Amino acid sequence: MIVGTYVRHFEKVSSTNAVAAAMLNEQAPAEGTVITASYQESGRGQPGNSWESEPGKNLIMSVILYPVMISPADQFIISEMVSLAVWDVVSKHTQNARIKWPNDIYVGNDKIAGILIENSIMGEILGSSIAGIGLNVNQTLFLSGAPNPVSLKQVTGTTHYLKAVKEDMTAALDRRYAMVISGEKATLESEYNRVLYRVGEWHRYSDDSGEFEGMIEGVRADGMLSVTKRDGTRHLYAFREIDYIL
Ligand code: BTN
Repeated sequence: MIVGTYVRHFEKVSSTNAVAAAMLNEQAPAEGTVITASYQESGRGQPGNSWESEPGKNLIMSVILYPVMISPADQFIISEMVSLAVWDVVSKHTQNARIKWPNDIYVGNDKIAGILIENSIMGEILGSSIAGIGLNVNQTLFLSGAPNPVSLKQVTGTTHYLKAVKEDMTAALDRRYAMVISGEKATLESEYNRVLYRVGEWHRYSDDSGEFEGMIEGVRADGMLSVTKRDGTRHLYAFREIDYIL
């Protein structure tokens, strides 16, 4: 076991990713160190966004990894493995969980979890990776104006025991990270693509040329999203180059 050998819980932090980054700067935390918090004062979302989480209601977790076997060109594998671990946990409770590229977890058309991965590249290798996970568990009122939040409680109709969700997440991350270590890259890629939100379906999107109807073909190993438009042309997108119209 790597993930969860050392666990630190805080009642209140600025951001568990920030705590993980400070630990990486100041000491040499064990690989798999897990940091959780009941509340974050400045929870970070994807660049430019914050992460809303009512105190004591949700899973807020960051994990420190040293994926030195991964080259920077292959770093999307970390997104895949963390997304799949969160998908594993959510899928224990619903059959409708999907991964929305690059690393949101959706149930139906609503976002139940967000992931913020901060990699540090040292020359030819990934020196360290902080994988931050916010999973909405028991929160039922969202105030931030985020477009489509949802929680496990709203999906299942029951309150969940946070400690059990945290243990499930730690175990899932450990299992998925073991796949990275043992070189099961192709399996991670195909599982990720199998549970991809909207894969193989026609939906509306927009890019810098305007709104269009497209079909997601899948995500490439380098993390680019491949989409076919109605006119038959295929397009590759990096993060934030395409908007999903929900
Ligand atoms: C997103 O915008 O979808 C990413 C959200 C990531 C939130 C998690 S909560 C734990 C960790 N600490 C943070 O400050 N952010 C991540």
